[in-house]
Amino acid sequence: LEKFDDGGSKKTRFTPVLDEVYDNIKKYDPCVVLTRLGGFYELYFDQAAKYGPLLNLKVSSRPTTAGLVPMAGFPFMHLQRYLAILVNKLNCHVAISEEFPPTPGSTTKNLYERRICRVITPGTLLDESFLDPMSSNYLLSVVPTPHQRASKNAKIGLAWIDLSTGDFFSQLTTPSLLSSDITRISPKEVLLPSLDDFPLPKRTAKPNSVPKALHEVYNSRKSKSYSVAFSPLQSPLTHSDFIDQWQTSFISELRHDAIEEFDEIQLAACSKVLEYVNYCVPDGTTRALPPVNFTHSSMLLLDSNSVSNLEIKKTLADGSTVGSLLQTIRRTSTQSGARRLLEWLLSPTTDIEEITFRQDLVEVLVTEDGQWLRNSIIARLRKIDDLRRLSHRFSIGRGSPDGMLALARSIHHISETEKLIREHTSGLKNQSLRKLVAKLNLSGPLALADEIQRTIDEVNLSIQHEMERQREQSAYEEISQEGATKHTKIITESPIFEAPEEKRWMGVDTEPWIILPHATHELEMLRSRYSDLIEEIRSLEHDLRDHIEINNTELRWSANYGYIVHFGSISASRRLLLDEHPPKLLTSTKSSAAFSWKPWVDLGNELGSIRLRIREEEKKILRRLKALILENYQQLQETSAIIDRIDIACSFAELAEEANLVRPVLTNDQKIEIKGGRHITVEAGLMERASGSFVPNDCYLKSPKTNHERVWVITGPNMAGKSTFLRQNVIIAILAQIGSYVPAESATIGIVDRIFSRIGAHDNLYRDQSTFMVEMIETAAILNNATPSSLVIMDEVGRGTSPDEGEAIAFGCLNHLYSVNKSRVLFATHFHNLAQHSATIGKIGVYCTGINDVDGEFWYDHKIRPGIAGYSHALKVAEMAGVPARALKFAKDVLEVKARSKQEAEEPVLAYASA
Ligand SMILES: Nc1ncnc2c1ncn2[C@@H]1O[C@H](COP(=O)(O)OP(=O)(O)OP(=O)(O)O)[C@@H](O)[C@H]1O
Ligand SMILES: [Mg+2]
Repeated sequence: LEKFDDGGSKKTRFTPVLDEVYDNIKKYDPCVVLTRLGGFYELYFDQAAKYGPLLNLKVSSRPTTAGLVPMAGFPFMHLQRYLAILVNKLNCHVAISEEFPPTPGSTTKNLYERRICRVITPGTLLDESFLDPMSSNYLLSVVPTPHQRASKNAKIGLAWIDLSTGDFFSQLTTPSLLSSDITRISPKEVLLPSLDDFPLPKRTAKPNSVPKALHEVYNSRKSKSYSVAFSPLQSPLTHSDFIDQWQTSFISELRHDAIEEFDEIQLAACSKVLEYVNYCVPDGTTRALPPVNFTHSSMLLLDSNSVSNLEIKKTLADGSTVGSLLQTIRRTSTQSGARRLLEWLLSPTTDIEEITFRQDLVEVLVTEDGQWLRNSIIARLRKIDDLRRLSHRFSIGRGSPDGMLALARSIHHISETEKLIREHTSGLKNQSLRKLVAKLNLSGPLALADEIQRTIDEVNLSIQHEMERQREQSAYEEISQEGATKHTKIITESPIFEAPEEKRWMGVDTEPWIILPHATHELEMLRSRYSDLIEEIRSLEHDLRDHIEINNTELRWSANYGYIVHFGSISASRRLLLDEHPPKLLTSTKSSAAFSWKPWVDLGNELGSIRLRIREEEKKILRRLKALILENYQQLQETSAIIDRIDIACSFAELAEEANLVRPVLTNDQKIEIKGGRHITVEAGLMERASGSFVPNDCYLKSPKTNHERVWVITGPNMAGKSTFLRQNVIIAILAQIGSYVPAESATIGIVDRIFSRIGAHDNLYRDQSTFMVEMIETAAILNNATPSSLVIMDEVGRGTSPDEGEAIAFGCLNHLYSVNKSRVLFATHFHNLAQHSATIGKIGVYCTGINDVDGEFWYDHKIRPGIAGYSHALKVAEMAGVPARALKFAKDVLEVKARSKQEAEEPVLAYASA
């Protein structure tokens, strides 16, 4: 949003309300300010002009002495809908200004005071209806150490929080790892220090300096879909200062020994996050779990290129989630299971024990016997609500009675799941699933669930929702009829709802009771007195009608006169005059009259006060339930984590059966033996389009089967399946290390510590880098970081420049990976020379894919086999693609000429490579 321009001077030029709005817009720049005005939220000034059309709202103008002020608004009940567009689609920060009665002593000239109650940004969603159920909603802060800007190993503190679950993490990183860390964390919003404080030095700047890394975070905001906010740089924070300052923001006590594990720059980052949260939710209700110190150990590091190259979250071509790895493998039944699966996929583990345990779980559920159990578990899991987000809401004072019921129902479904698993796993040899559910400790949560169900009146709650719905509907109709200019009326009128007769007798509060009458002794007494009173009133009204012999005489409550007797005719009222309590006339019209009558006033007043006391008691009971939920908070979070694991195990088992996967063997050596491996997404795509079946391929690295070759160079014509082969093997390794089964006939994977990939040539022109520059930056990162335990795929390195230099660079990289990094490498290339002369570098396998040529008929066989692809294949592909014969003939001539002159050019390359 452009800065709001007030021309430098501000006098009271608008109306008092507009002055207030004006101040808010300036104060909360760059937020879009939504101002509550009666039944509407309004946008004003240039914000109305800019966002009105984007939100499909009519922009009108309000005349003031200072000229026309643009405005646009929508009914208050549609707030979530418009917030979803502003925050999620347009990436705006929105400040919401609500109406309050003026505080005593306030100088406001308005009927209401307006205050900003909440700033909503993509990273600070609490329980908004548009919160994505399938992914975490992290706000991340990046805080570099102030005085290490130029150093490659400068420390950077990271802290990230999900306000919808309270999860809070922190980590120490370096400029070179920052980008991959951010890809893994997948924040929705990133807090950066001002980039003006970190100017980029000249073009010669070291690629890994702090300024480069920070600018990179800013520049990647679109491709990695997060929004960026800036805040002043924070200096490192001592442990005790951190605890003193922030203890009250946490759900449980911060332990000194736990906090001392954090670097001071991490605490600075934590502090930044909490500061921002307090700015966005100023009422101080948010609470976080104590921060968890996140380390890279026992994690397979995926660099951010690999996450996009392997299309883990979205496809490269159109950025859609359809066709991504996540979407292909996900069969989870709960929302929190889905979020956990994505986290696993972005940070697979290197811990064999953990992987084996996950595989064991899948094994129980994948056999023929396991299928019934799996389906029964899934049927129950589907009924479980988002326990984590649900229970967290109560810790920030937000949960509703509906949330309580949902919590109670979920706990019962979990308990059923537990019983089911216990009953059906006792005789099994594989006890993993049984062991996992044994960790569930449901006694507290079950008692909680029973208490909730004993307390809350589910039927009345649904009646209340129906009333709310009708109220919204009629308010909306009223507003639409009135039109957009005259809409300051506050909607509090009751809806046209078929009410029981008692409704006439009640005061303002006509809502149904939401607590069951027997919840507490006190409530029971109050409710019983209430029922008696209703009976007394009913007979009073009955007697009255009998006495005056007119049926439409009613006892009522009215906003103006309180408890009144309403007569259909004035003459009828006379018959009451003889009564021992003569009624007093309050008001009359031609055909009706309202009287005050002591017997009714007395009963009415008692009814009113009992209703108030019942409401108070209801509130007390709800508070007690909330406290009970908080007592079980830890237990509920742990339960949810176990359910996530069961959910993912079912998901893996389901996938294993559907896609015909096998259990891989994980080892601590660096061997990779994949027999009949497949690319799970490409295979699914082929199946969906019914365009043939996937051809499985083997891959043996550091295996005795291929003489311990740890590098394979693969050649072959375009479209023959090189890139697919490269990716499928890396994906198999990832799947294996998240504990899933893998698409192969059999697979043994020596644990991989890091995955690197250099694939394709995608331009990054907006980052001011040429195709070849991007290629080389990525290549440099690989050569500088890959270890012997890493798995590297290089697809056509050197393609982006002249053939000779490209080939030389490809040779250089291959040589480096082989002799310095000593990683396991799959290297696809169109430089056939590279394959032909790779033996000069070392023990490198040469493999190829090809075209079958039988009696002049060609087809791709997609089969990887030892050997080097011949040149003629390229021309065949061209022929198949329909390149005219004349052009092909010319190409053939060129090829022959080149072949003759090539002999001489090759010698120096070879000499250089073997040097
Ligand atoms: N093993 C396989 N079985 C069946 N179809 C395959 C197989 N491998 C690849 N394909 C099909 O061939 C298409 C092209 O594969 P791929 O992109 O891997 O070829 P390539 O050799 O890398 O081509 P280029 O040299 O142009 O990059 C894939 O999209 C897929 O549809
Ligand atoms: Mg390719």
